[in-house]
Amino acid sequence: MADLFTYQRHAFLCAEIDRHNRLYYELDAPEISDAEYDSLFRELLDLEAAHPELVSAASPSRKVGSKPQEKFAPVPHAVPMLSLRNVKNAQEFEEFDRSLRGTFLAQAGDIDYVCEMKLDGLAVELTYRDGRLVAGSTRGDGFTGENILDNLRTVAGLPHQLTPPYPRLVDVRGEVYIELAAFRTLNRHQEEAGTRPFANPRNAAAGSLRQLDPKVTAGRPLRIFCYGVGRLEGASPATHLELLKQLQQWGLPVNLDGTATASGAAEVLACYERLQARREALPFEIDGAVVKVNDLALQRELGEVSRSPRWAVAFKFPPRQAQTVVEAIGLQVGRTGAITPVAHLRPVEVSGVTVARASLHNWDEIGRLDVRIGDHVIVERAGDVIPDIVKVLTEHRSGREQRVPLPESCPECGGRVRKAEDEVVPRCSNAQCPAQALQRLRHFVSRHAMDIEGLGEKQLVQLLDRQRIEDIADLYRLDSDDLFALGRMGEVLAGKLLQAIDASRKRPLSRLLFALGIRHVGEHTAKILAKRFPALDDLARADREQLRQIPEIGEKVADAVVDYFADPANLLLLDKLRRHGVAPAPEATVQQGGPLSGLTFVITGTLSHMGRSEAEALVERLGGRAAGSVSRKTDYLVAGENAGSKLERARELGIRILGEEEFLQMAGAGVPS
Ligand code: IVH
Repeated sequence: MADLFTYQRHAFLCAEIDRHNRLYYELDAPEISDAEYDSLFRELLDLEAAHPELVSAASPSRKVGSKPQEKFAPVPHAVPMLSLRNVKNAQEFEEFDRSLRGTFLAQAGDIDYVCEMKLDGLAVELTYRDGRLVAGSTRGDGFTGENILDNLRTVAGLPHQLTPPYPRLVDVRGEVYIELAAFRTLNRHQEEAGTRPFANPRNAAAGSLRQLDPKVTAGRPLRIFCYGVGRLEGASPATHLELLKQLQQWGLPVNLDGTATASGAAEVLACYERLQARREALPFEIDGAVVKVNDLALQRELGEVSRSPRWAVAFKFPPRQAQTVVEAIGLQVGRTGAITPVAHLRPVEVSGVTVARASLHNWDEIGRLDVRIGDHVIVERAGDVIPDIVKVLTEHRSGREQRVPLPESCPECGGRVRKAEDEVVPRCSNAQCPAQALQRLRHFVSRHAMDIEGLGEKQLVQLLDRQRIEDIADLYRLDSDDLFALGRMGEVLAGKLLQAIDASRKRPLSRLLFALGIRHVGEHTAKILAKRFPALDDLARADREQLRQIPEIGEKVADAVVDYFADPANLLLLDKLRRHGVAPAPEATVQQGGPLSGLTFVITGTLSHMGRSEAEALVERLGGRAAGSVSRKTDYLVAGENAGSKLERARELGIRILGEEEFLQMAGAGVPS
């Protein structure tokens, strides 16, 4: 019988795990790391194994996920969506393999497994009836999920109609996720908009899928990989691998590139190691391998136990965590004046990468963690190179640790700091703040804005310090003498830079709009605005109503645009830009059904006939899509001189690689003279 202590500990673990489930599944705001959660869960399982009398239907060990939220209609899962048991190391996997062979299958030979990547996203179910997508839900508590069909319809690459021959009915299961690059961009936009950034790509995916307005979801870069089925009416394949291939033939996105078969535990371990070696180079986050018995008849025979199938396990990677000390907390001022705290850490290695900084996001986060200067902390790299502080080790406190208060004045210029009620970030309200000026310049010249190559932060700081420039328009006044004065700038480099500056005068209007840094106007919104208002003056004169009539423009953007053009300082700046010859080219119209329509290109390396941005614009003009990173969705990689990791990755994925001339021929543009 369990003693009082054990009872209490069990009750505590149940309550605590329930609380963390709610935070994770319903609120998308976890307080502890996955590793900490796993260790609580394991303790609960161990306790229940030793004291079966403690187990009840209410124990989190008998439940999957969390109760569905009420804002979405409930959708029952015809076949329950189970969860996976975790194994942490080779020994535990070998035990799992042994128990399958010994206890359940009495099989002497090796078991054939399939090793898949364990994507870190949100599990969903999609029902296709007569080939048409008719239902879509979250996992919920495993028995009932939330109806998020309209949101799922917006996920890139998810077919609304299967390719025949399809079965009469199939429930497809998969993981919705966000790629790392897209996650960073999304968070940048969140921060610009004064909304709380997402803690990691998983939270971003979950938060985006649970939007009440599908338009919001549509604007989020969600993707999906399918990895299984619930109901399947029609012929079933014999193995899991064949099932995956079948899903792909129906037109569903399947991560076959991240999937391998393995016979016996030793081969599974080798697969696991290979996945771990690939982890850092993947465009999305994975947190382990999922190992499944390949033979579907064997899977049926094995069945399930409580909340998990017996035929599969999650073979998790060790957490990318390390312990270090917060040496200082710095304050960064962004181009909109937003002041964000950054922890400067005693440098520490976390799975091969030295980290010296951690983002603290905002003051809510500092308050929640109660992190102070001098604190010993656990840092974790989750989906980004800049790690998060996941925990403060308060037991190491000496009493000399210092809190960081909300700044009353801007750390860069001493200007007044204001915090709007509906925002989590304080902002410097001084429009002349030099830190803001620098960040505005950096944004203006950046690749997706005016794309002025050769003007990095260092050069901009020097130009500002020497008062050669004050604002973005001054860039167009620079001459070679100004540039020679910069360290390490010879005639050739200065000439190139002046050319790059000159070329930017004629960038399309959408780029200029994005480059100006109007609040809430990201690249996508800038394109929409430029399409509707091909002349800057017309946009500047547009009122709220006119802007609101554009289908994709909401109230926030409309207000921000009107406010921007109502500010006399901005009008002066625009006039100054104009006087210095900045005359945006009309927005190139996309050729419907153009020669590249439906194709995704990634341009890498140095091209000889045009810049990368121009090549990307060409792709888009001809109906194609220009992406920043190589994935299985890439149709062609265009490789210029000195192409590096993207070329390697494209080769790895078997993506077609084009030289510059081939690309130009394909574009039907010929080689410009
Ligand atoms: S199979 C019963 N395959 O991991 C089979 N799951 O803890 C369950 N996941 O709920 C799913 N990648 O959200 C499977 N390749 C993969 C997966 C995967 C990620 C997630 C999924 C599931 C959780 C299990």
